[in-house]
Amino acid sequence: MLPRNSASFILLIASLVTSQPSVEKFSVPETILSLATRINAASDNTGNYVFSPLGISTALNLLLLGAEGDTKQQLRSFLKYRPEVPDNRVHDVFSNILNKLNEGQDEVEIKIANGVITQRGLGLESNYVESSKKYKTETGTLDFKNAPETALNTINNWVAEKTSNKITQLLAQPPPSGTKMIILNAIYFKGQWENPFPVEQTRTDAFSAPDGPTSAEYMVNVLTVPYAESTELDCKAIVLPYKGLQYGMLFLLPNGDDPQAVQKLEAKLSVQSINQLMEEDMKFRSTTVRIPKFKIRQSFSVRPTLQRAGAGGIFGTGANLSRITRDPVVVDDILHQAFIEVTEDGTEAAAATGITLSRDAPSKNFIANKPFAFIIRHNRLDLSLFHGRVVKP
Ligand SMILES: *[C@@H]1O[C@H](CO)[C@@H](O)[C@H](O)[C@H]1NC(C)=O
Repeated sequence: MLPRNSASFILLIASLVTSQPSVEKFSVPETILSLATRINAASDNTGNYVFSPLGISTALNLLLLGAEGDTKQQLRSFLKYRPEVPDNRVHDVFSNILNKLNEGQDEVEIKIANGVITQRGLGLESNYVESSKKYKTETGTLDFKNAPETALNTINNWVAEKTSNKITQLLAQPPPSGTKMIILNAIYFKGQWENPFPVEQTRTDAFSAPDGPTSAEYMVNVLTVPYAESTELDCKAIVLPYKGLQYGMLFLLPNGDDPQAVQKLEAKLSVQSINQLMEEDMKFRSTTVRIPKFKIRQSFSVRPTLQRAGAGGIFGTGANLSRITRDPVVVDDILHQAFIEVTEDGTEAAAATGITLSRDAPSKNFIANKPFAFIIRHNRLDLSLFHGRVVKP
């Protein structure tokens, strides 16, 4: 896969969730949601999965910061930045949003860390080192060529530290010896439900997976939460808020029994359809909620998906990244790893903190006993941190 006689370049992303859990003409939330829906559409994954469109778009922005000429235009158009919005505005607005994620709440822990690690001796442009600081990017050098094991351990330790030891093995093997640069983006999110599920209510029951009936451990509660029945998306949806109410997890449960319904629903997700759902369709309703506990840990190479989604040019030998380095480099791959765990209280370690039962008779049901999709969002910013799907808990 690595081109011979040319420097290679690996873009690597670690994203992690532990959960139970605008600007005129230029909207970061729309950029990220649009990227998420295109990645969904281009993915050939039919099983459980989770990824961070915020993480992937942050890494692509770090590339954009170093791109020139056609490569820059290609990245800008892939990210849907309009031509009239200047580069510095894109980077200012995007990095500002990243800085806002922690604002005004102590209950949810979110950490985003970026790193640019180059082969010792590679000429890194000092302007790049300087301008990448607005993305809170740490730069450093490693010797991929002569000390690949050290490089492996240093990178894995860095990611482990940034993800509170939830991702300890981002790289299973040392980077290829021709590697010139690795861009890392790690996201750690940990939230507790505003309304924890009472553990004693949890029970095992049937779940209709695409390959046949199975069973799942269901968390059960009666909650007054945003609830919608969408005709456009042909699904039911609820939002379970995290403590502090800044973040929430949107669950999308297709109507009917078609085992492929969740993929069909994902194909219909767009900035418009999600805005319609969140802003018009959602109403607070007393709802019986049954959602299976689940855990997804996944690593995948984003390159084929981005190629199918139309960003193949950035992986070509002609990619122009001359603002990062004058040395010829090739983007070899984008590796992504994400982890999510959904339990009664929102985190694997947190203690159960009481029971919230609505006094009203529940008028709605949200019984997730077949494949469903989810999105972890920042409510006020309308920002998608993680997208995923459960076909078999
Ligand atoms: C990259 O693009 C810049 C600006 O268009 C150009 O001056 C430079 O020669 C290009 N470098 C490569 C390696 O293509």
